[in-house]
Amino acid sequence: MNDYTLKQLVDKNFDYYKNGEVANYIPALAEVSPKQLGIAVYDLTSNELMKAGDVDVRFAIESMSKVPVLLLAIKDCGIKKVFETINTEPTGFAFNSIMNMEINHRKHPMNPFVNAGAIATTSLISGKDANEKFERILSFMKQICDDTDITLNKEIYLSESKTGDINRSLAYYMKGNQMIDEEVSETLETYFKQCSVNVTATGIAKLAAVLANKGIAPWNNQRIISEESATIVKSIMTTAGLYDESGEFSVHVGVPAKSGVGGGLMAAIPNSYGIGVFSPALDKFGNSAAGIQLLKDTVQELDADIFQ
Ligand code: DON
Repeated sequence: MNDYTLKQLVDKNFDYYKNGEVANYIPALAEVSPKQLGIAVYDLTSNELMKAGDVDVRFAIESMSKVPVLLLAIKDCGIKKVFETINTEPTGFAFNSIMNMEINHRKHPMNPFVNAGAIATTSLISGKDANEKFERILSFMKQICDDTDITLNKEIYLSESKTGDINRSLAYYMKGNQMIDEEVSETLETYFKQCSVNVTATGIAKLAAVLANKGIAPWNNQRIISEESATIVKSIMTTAGLYDESGEFSVHVGVPAKSGVGGGLMAAIPNSYGIGVFSPALDKFGNSAAGIQLLKDTVQELDADIFQ
């Protein structure tokens, strides 16, 4: 695999954007051009980054933020506390569903990647107020993506906050059932901000490379997270990273991954590769339409399906 092969895969899969639509429930995301596709692959063996297409375009991290925030919550509170608060089961429901908590009387959100579980995860981040919590998240994202230019996209943040009533209902439902602490409005502000951070496919590939490399940043050999937390997060990515499309994705692509409605996809292939993909048009589950196809071809080309 080299940049040229990767570029051929981008060209081959570009038109799949026509099978999706950009997210429109967050107005600022609806303005993004769907005609973009890019991929960055960090190869742990050669310690090289391969790139093709729109890899350095900034886009909203959205639900992919749930990965670094979960890692930071584990650093802040420990594995035991985090998973006493949030379960690790796949849901079979949409990412913003309340169904399992309400109908099945679950005492905890189902997993850290559905919105309810992600909001509960954010509530565990240390900091005296929403501002300090968000600043800690931002500086952790900069470190783990090896990207000092990551910033809050204020327009997206305002758009998230303005249209975030389903997230508010999930958060207040959890508070009303003593599933999360009292500071709901601060937690929601922090959650909306963590989703509105501008990243690139290159930075996401580096984050995924840390997960793939058992918690050590391959570009400087420094440990950023524990090996155990890297293993746990990759496992939850496998069972719940693409919500109610996780099973199909696992069968057809076969690697731990996490999506975001900004059009991002990250894939962490243990001991081999960290991959970041960007293409904003989404399928009906809220996952990047062309991104999934490109990732599938890339994993095949790399012969990196972990279940084969
Ligand atoms: O909270 C939300 O609904 C969005 N900020 C993030 C959702 C998301 O990215 C789902 N992923 N595919």
